[in-house]
Amino acid sequence: MRLEVHGITKSFSPGRDPAVRRTVLDGLSLDVEFPHVLALLGPSGGGKSTLLRVIAGLERPDSGAVVINGEKVPDREPALRDYRRTLGVVFQAFNLFPHMTVLRNVMLPLVEVHGIDRSTAQDRSMEVMERLGIADQAAKLPAQLSGGQRQRVAIARALAAKPRFLLFDEPTSALDPEMTAEVLSLIADLRESNTPMLLVTHEMGFARKIADRVAFLSAGRVLEEGSAAEFFASPRTVEAQRFLAKVLAY
Ligand SMILES: Nc1ncnc2c1ncn2[C@@H]1O[C@H](COP(=O)(O)OP(=O)(O)OP(=O)(O)O)[C@@H](O)[C@H]1O
Ligand SMILES: [Mg+2]
Repeated sequence: MRLEVHGITKSFSPGRDPAVRRTVLDGLSLDVEFPHVLALLGPSGGGKSTLLRVIAGLERPDSGAVVINGEKVPDREPALRDYRRTLGVVFQAFNLFPHMTVLRNVMLPLVEVHGIDRSTAQDRSMEVMERLGIADQAAKLPAQLSGGQRQRVAIARALAAKPRFLLFDEPTSALDPEMTAEVLSLIADLRESNTPMLLVTHEMGFARKIADRVAFLSAGRVLEEGSAAEFFASPRTVEAQRFLAKVLAY
């Protein structure tokens, strides 16, 4: 996958005064090619989630453009909606419907967003849940599952639609260590599926293990982009050196 980000800017009004703006993405550019996993790393507040949301078409930049495999991400509806349908996005907070069974949660976007008939959607959902080891949970409600299982459901839901690109925003940061390991190993398995992934994570050991490329973000810019092996062995910028020294100290 080739991901190009051209001079993205995005600012928010932190308070009520619309004249007061805080710049979150500051003319951010990136041009990266990766077969499996691009990890977005960097200090808290640096703009990783905002960039992921812009790439996912969930947030519109103030200026700039995102180009995926030579195709510009549309900047308005309904083309933007069609673009979003081709992606799978998984957030820290699972975002499952609490009153629906696991199976219905996984099926819902297939039926409602992709217009797939119910029986095909059900078969496809069961197939993916089988693959992720949660088929036996199909009739349960999300509240009856562990955090790790819930995140598996969210990942199953994203995968069922056969996305061409998977985006994860800190998929394990709401989980305890055991559940984290479970979900990380699942994400590692997804490498084999040949669906390229964008991963925002604070799990440095994991990023080091599965990422091909790393983009290091700080204060709304990409300060460094390179192979994961190079980044972890010898970060070039002082900011990345400090960041790694701090996070790897734990
Ligand atoms: N919708 C919004 N409205 C106002 N401010 C926002 C909004 N979204 C993000 N921000 C601000 O933008 C800044 C960057 O946020 P972002 O979530 O992209 O950083 P991050 O790198 O993902 O941080 P973390 O590692 O803590 O998740 C933060 O200061 C945040 O408060
Ligand atoms: Mg974030």
